[in-house]
Amino acid sequence: MHNNRKSLLDVRNLKVIFKNTNALAINDISFYLKPREIFAIVGESGSGKTSIALSIANLFNRKTIEISGHILFDDTDLLTISEKEMASYRGSQIMYIFQEPNLALNPSLTIGYQILESMKSKSKSDVIDLMRDVGLMNRSTYHSYPHELSGGMQQRAMIAVALASNPKLLIADEPTTSLDVTIQKQIIDLLKTIHEKRELAILLITHNLGIVNGFADRVMVILNGKIEEISNVETIFKNPKSPYTAKLLACIPEVGNPNKLIPK
Ligand SMILES: Nc1ncnc2c1ncn2[C@@H]1O[C@H](COP(=O)(O)OP(=O)(O)OP(=O)(O)O)[C@@H](O)[C@H]1O
Ligand SMILES: [Mg+2]
Repeated sequence: MHNNRKSLLDVRNLKVIFKNTNALAINDISFYLKPREIFAIVGESGSGKTSIALSIANLFNRKTIEISGHILFDDTDLLTISEKEMASYRGSQIMYIFQEPNLALNPSLTIGYQILESMKSKSKSDVIDLMRDVGLMNRSTYHSYPHELSGGMQQRAMIAVALASNPKLLIADEPTTSLDVTIQKQIIDLLKTIHEKRELAILLITHNLGIVNGFADRVMVILNGKIEEISNVETIFKNPKSPYTAKLLACIPEVGNPNKLIPK
């Protein structure tokens, strides 16, 4: 199917069951990401997007879920390694941007300090450079606390924290959903610019196919924890194989204006 050795991430037959409800959230999902690739997971609320992302980042409490399959990252199965070994991936090679930046940032530490903390060099000028890269140009932002920033600026700070460790994989779970519509496009454009500059693969999670167009290389559409379709972006938009994908395409909210529908 594909040359495994070229994959950065290779998810095989992933199954996730929540023990409390016995719900099969992810039912036999397989996909891969090549280094520097942008791969999008698209699906409606409850389809299992976050469950896949949390499985990859190993952010689930294993006592509450039953997980099976393989998650190969650089040929290491993340599902078989210890929590200590996982810590050397998560927080360095694999970074995660959440929908709510204010939940991920530490409210009692300055933005500059939080970026510095996840940076190997621990150099203030590297932090300032990175802050400039993500559009946090104002020098005083270094000493700002998260609550002093707007939602969009907080998400930029979150992106800076995520990039500080120079990760190979950035998982962005609905990175624009909580933001004001006018800011959404700016953040997507920022991710695009960052991707052009760095050796980085991005796993973008969204319910909005409109965000994917012009951004991702390949797309996986999921429904009820199962794959509906995996294709490259052009194919998904021009010639969707699954009727469900076609339905999603028919109601894409315009990025920056979710109320305005693009007629098919
Ligand atoms: N902690 C949990 N306990 C029990 N069931 C859960 C839990 N978290 C998620 N689920 C269930 O797993 C399924 C997938 O949820 P998930 O959060 O992965 O979906 P999602 O696609 O990310 O949705 P959204 O777009 O709303 O973020 C849903 O049916 C959800 O109800
Ligand atoms: Mg989710």
